[in-house]
Formats: sequence, structure tokens, C-alpha cells
Amino acid sequence: MLPRLKRIGGNSFGTEDKKVLLIYTILRDEERIIDKALSKRGIKVEKVLGNRTLWELGNGLPEARLAINRTLSASQAAYISFLLEERGVKVINPFRTMTICNDKALTTDLLAKEGVPVPRTYLAFTPERAFEALEEIGYPAVIKPVTGSWGRLVAKVNDRDAAEAVISYRWNLGRVQQKAFYIQEYVKKPGRDIRVLVIGGKVRYAVYRSSSHWVTNTARGARAYPCPVTKELADIAERVASIVGGDIIALDLFESEKGLLVNEVNSTPEFARSSRDVGIDVGELIADYIEEVLS
Ligand SMILES: Nc1ncnc2c1ncn2[C@@H]1O[C@H](COP(=O)(O)OP(=O)(O)O)[C@@H](O)[C@H]1O
Ligand SMILES: [Mg+2]
Repeated sequence: MLPRLKRIGGNSFGTEDKKVLLIYTILRDEERIIDKALSKRGIKVEKVLGNRTLWELGNGLPEARLAINRTLSASQAAYISFLLEERGVKVINPFRTMTICNDKALTTDLLAKEGVPVPRTYLAFTPERAFEALEEIGYPAVIKPVTGSWGRLVAKVNDRDAAEAVISYRWNLGRVQQKAFYIQEYVKKPGRDIRVLVIGGKVRYAVYRSSSHWVTNTARGARAYPCPVTKELADIAERVASIVGGDIIALDLFESEKGLLVNEVNSTPEFARSSRDVGIDVGELIADYIEEVLS
């Protein structure tokens, strides 16, 4: 039998004070770290396989007042945050944050509109408009899917020939999502970018992610080393957190001639590799924050 949300009669929420739902798809290092750190503090962690749960719409009340949603699929994660929030559960991260951060176009537009420095970026829905954007930006440029992670399908195009190949493949072979062209200036960053972890609106640590490849995800082999939290960095990160909301988010920043630029915001951040490289215990940071929220 599939797990179901427990149904509790009437309007009583039956919430247990020191219990957290950990919604997951696969128990990766991050979920294990969170589980262990919370359990060590005496917080009961109920692990819920979110994508195998039968969610009866308009019904079912979870027996917890806090949930950490670590669902892998962006669309499933958004649904789950929505359903839980609507049932009065505080969800990390909430539906709005998940929805914005899981879409690079929404994130960039919102941040730019609020005056946060971001790379110059266009969104196009046809190849013709995509080439127009590339003419505006010039080469090299970067074409990305609006959703994705680990640097997958993030393409640097050095000239029109390369751009034609990427756009034509996406247009003719891609699913509907790949037909939204997110086209961005290539930022000449110094062989690294910066990953910043923000918990409860405060910067907790920053690392450089360095690689000989222009794609600097640690999932793609980049190494992390400590990055000082300057005032510029803290101001930008905390501003971004106040705009996108959310309790635990991670930002990718680029160092550019114009100062720091925000590349993207991750609302279900991976942190195991980078924090291990610099010896930071993110489990403890998260547990401190969860205790604060539950108290
Ligand atoms: N506009 C850009 N200029 C320079 N490097 C970029 C640019 N966009 C992405 N990158 C590199 O590619 C990596 C992955 O891109 P990102 O937008 O963070 O996608 P993902 O969601 O897959 O991590 C970044 O961490 C960075 O190293
Ligand atoms: Mg990234």
C-alpha cells in the first residue's frame, strides 16, 4: 500500500512540536546529513517519499508543523510545498520560493527588476528571436535551459555556427521546456564562481568553486575553497533572500568587471561536496536554524 497523508478528523492539526517531515526522493548525502543532525538534537524526523505518496487533494493533514522539502523533481517539489503549506505546515522552502528558483528566467527577471546585479539575459521562444538576442549580446554567449542543474545543457557558444547548432537541436529535438531559450552574456569569471549558503536570511558561508572548465559545478568536478564574506557579498545575498524568500537557499555568484553578479538561486541546494571541501558542518547550521524555528 502506498503511504498516504494521515487523515485527522475535524480541524485539529495534531501537530507534534518536535517533529519534522523530511520529504525526499533519494536519500543523498544532503538528506542524510540533515536527518542525522536533527535526530542528534532529539528532533523526530519522519522521512516521507514524496513522489510515492498518494496526495488526496483537499484532504489529509500531516502530523507535523514543519517540513523540509528535498524532492528532486522541480515540479513535484513545487506541488508538495503547495499542498503542505495550504495545510498550515511551514515548508522549507515554500511554494513561491521553489517556483521562482526552479526557473532561471523567473529568478533573473525578478532579481533584475528589483535592481540586483545579474548577467544581461534574454528569453526567447523562437529561433529567430534567439538569434536576435545573440546579436545584441555578441559572442561568446551562454544558452541554458530555464530549469536544470549540475550544468547540464548549459552551452557556451563562441560563434554563430555553434549557436545555430544548439538552437536547432533544442528546437527540433527538445521537449517544450527546451524551446524557451535563456540567452545570457558570457561572464569572464576568474576560473571560479562563488556559492553562498543563506539560512534564515543570513549568509552562513561562501565558497569559491574552481575548475579548469568554464562550468564550475562541484557535481562536475570543481573544487571548493573558502571565500571571504565581504560586505558586497553579504548585502547582495541577503537582498536576494529577501526577494525570493525561503529559509535555506544557495546562490551562485560571478565576479565580473562590474562587481558581483547573481547567476542563479537554488532552493533545494546540494552542499555536501562543497562544505566537505572547506570543513563546514552544514547539518549543524541547519539544525540550529530548525531548532530556532520550532522553539
Ligand atoms: N553566463 C555565464 N558566464 C560564465 N559562466 C557561466 C555562465 N552561466 C553559467 N556559467 C557556468 O556554468 C555553471 C552552471 O550554470 P548554472 O546557470 O549555475 O546552471 P545549473 O543550474 O546547471 O547549475 C555555473 O556555475 C558557471 O560556472
Ligand atoms: Mg548552478
